[in-house]
Amino acid sequence: MSTILVKKSGSLRGEVEVSGSKNAVLPLLAATLLTDEACEIADVPDLKDVDVMSKLLMSFGAVVEEDKGAKTVKVCAKTITSNEAPCPLVKKMRASVLAMGPLLARTGRAKVPLPGGCAIGKRPIDLHLKGFRTLGANIESTEDELNYGYVEAVAAKLTGGEIYLDTRSVGATENIMMAAALAEGMTLIENAAQEPEIVDLANFLNKMGAKIKGAGTDMIKIEGVKRLHGAKHTVIPDRIEAGTFMLAAAITNGDITITNTLSNHVKPVIAKLRECGVSVDDTANGIRVRAGRKFLTATDIKTLPYPGFPTDIQPQFMTFLATASGPSVIWETVFENRFMHVKELNKMNAGITIPEGRKAIVPGGRSLKGAKVRATDLRAGAALILAGLTAAGETEISDIYHIDRGYAKIIEKFSSLGADITRTV
Ligand code: UD1
Repeated sequence: MSTILVKKSGSLRGEVEVSGSKNAVLPLLAATLLTDEACEIADVPDLKDVDVMSKLLMSFGAVVEEDKGAKTVKVCAKTITSNEAPCPLVKKMRASVLAMGPLLARTGRAKVPLPGGCAIGKRPIDLHLKGFRTLGANIESTEDELNYGYVEAVAAKLTGGEIYLDTRSVGATENIMMAAALAEGMTLIENAAQEPEIVDLANFLNKMGAKIKGAGTDMIKIEGVKRLHGAKHTVIPDRIEAGTFMLAAAITNGDITITNTLSNHVKPVIAKLRECGVSVDDTANGIRVRAGRKFLTATDIKTLPYPGFPTDIQPQFMTFLATASGPSVIWETVFENRFMHVKELNKMNAGITIPEGRKAIVPGGRSLKGAKVRATDLRAGAALILAGLTAAGETEISDIYHIDRGYAKIIEKFSSLGADITRTV
């Protein structure tokens, strides 16, 4: 089984270009199911999750042409031949559930197995289903002969409605937005998630002929249209990858300029790094992150929906805090089980405790030591790479398929900054 080997690497220096956003491209690809015309997505990251989404689209009858060199994906869902998502693909990636809204709107029916992906808590889809129900769909849960659960949504016609999301769910906001784009009349999503990936999806849908206003605020208005047409769109840069390299500069006392990034998408990470004594500056071509001081100080963090501190940067920031001077408290408010990396970091001498389910205490000031660790989920994997860069000796990370799901050319990018990192096959 493949592993990633990371050795203590000194200060990382240089320039690194961020890829297109994983969390933006997946809903964009799902949205191509809403039209029988060809769509083209540019700056698509080379990721396992993109491959899974492409396979999923093909399983519904879409023709998908991936050009990894040009970083484009062309999709034409001229005819939908199936509206049932295959279990093996959905198990691999939770975002498969994003096909449900488009399939329901386009064909009047969508059946998906209960989704997989990272095991960071229960991650139900009740809000997605509540939205479809409000639009007039009948939802049924079924089990197959192996007791595996499926959900099926059926609607002869979707009609706009008012939906209040109890939790600001990114996926539910996206799924409902896509279904409502082809519903009859006006849909209002209240307490909508405000992530940049939602704005990117709304921009793409509007290019396809949808009438969506308010994306990026907590109230999104969607005036349904009869049909959508093909469109071209470039994916926004990956703010979580950008944040990961910012933390790489911080933890190695490095000096990294991150290009193809938008500083207003990573504001909370910048603010917290500055609190710790890291210099973060906008430059002509990106963000320069410098950690010149020997001892950086700790700070507390609390994850929140956007524009709060992103849960997807929590493991990487925690790793940095393990080495910063002084104790810190981390509150994880978005997912109920997102501290699985603590056990792995503690194998490396981080000394982190979890007095309550969603609260971690990081003593700080630790010298990390290389160890054999496991990437328990995608961002945990990134955190362990950061830990390995600064840990004495060698760190061997297993279960790296999680990392490949969400970081394009990760070995090449870290190596170009001076990291001693290799992949074993
Ligand atoms: C997306 C991101 C993921 C990120 C997360 C939160 C993608 C592909 N993935 O995941 O990287 O960590 O946003 O920023 O974009 N919830 C419910 N009911 C639902 C849906 C969600 O209770 O129907 C809860 C979840 O259990 C969780 C919270 O809402 O506690 C946020 O989840 P959500 O925003 O939906 O995350 P995802 O869209 O799955």
